[in-house]
Amino acid sequence: MKIIHISDTHLVSKRAGHYASDPILKLKKAVESINKYQSDADFLVITGDLADTGSLDAYIDLREILDELLIPYYLIIGNHDSRENFFQIFGDKCGYQDSFTQFPLVKDDKHLLFLDTKFEEWHDGGFSQERFEWIENQLQTNSNLPTYLFMHHPPFLIHHKQMDDIGFRHKEQFWEMLSKYQNVKHIFFGHVHLLINGSYRGVSYSSVRSTNHQVALLSQDKELYFNSNEQPTYAVVNIDRDQVNTISHEYLNEELIYPSFIPMDKCS
Ligand SMILES: [Fe+2]
Ligand SMILES: [Fe+2]
Repeated sequence: MKIIHISDTHLVSKRAGHYASDPILKLKKAVESINKYQSDADFLVITGDLADTGSLDAYIDLREILDELLIPYYLIIGNHDSRENFFQIFGDKCGYQDSFTQFPLVKDDKHLLFLDTKFEEWHDGGFSQERFEWIENQLQTNSNLPTYLFMHHPPFLIHHKQMDDIGFRHKEQFWEMLSKYQNVKHIFFGHVHLLINGSYRGVSYSSVRSTNHQVALLSQDKELYFNSNEQPTYAVVNIDRDQVNTISHEYLNEELIYPSFIPMDKCS
């Protein structure tokens, strides 16, 4: 199975910039690149913060851009999104369950769970009891299959103070639930606007940078948040029975590739 993972598109509205950047242009560039080089992928997933202030027109723009993709796409929301406005534009997609952007997908003997971590109206994330029960039910139903989670907030500390301050609230309850099932293999997340890989309690994980603006690693001991101009990435993910492999791609830099061998007589 091959997946393209992108995150935190933070669309505003047509013609508007955001954080000294153009989120629409950068997302369109990602779609162009994916269509050109990754059209053999099974699907694309965006792990939340689709619209910066959850405005309806941003979701209309998002749908227009994503409908240009040659591969199917799945979406979940993040803390910046409006569930209500999102559902107005994307409610017909993905088979969302119980009024949340959560749904299961069983494909190629793999169990993929797309989760909704938007919690109340603040930037940290979490699950209501209702969502915990839904997830546990899914884990029970497919307990014989390797399971892969997609969620906006990482359910562990990432050791960046500012982002951990707006992290996932219910870590202990979440991991207590997962400990009953030994089949969760990998967690894909967004929210952090940083490129992070690691493992927690034996489960590997990965993020991607935002398609629009990055969180500065060096801002974490400051009171204000700082962004950085590090390049956006998408991840090309290959999953088989034995492996999850992610390759991060700076898709705005594609013109920079060059042949690695240049004969000496061609050097000047
Ligand atoms: Fe974000
Ligand atoms: Fe977020």
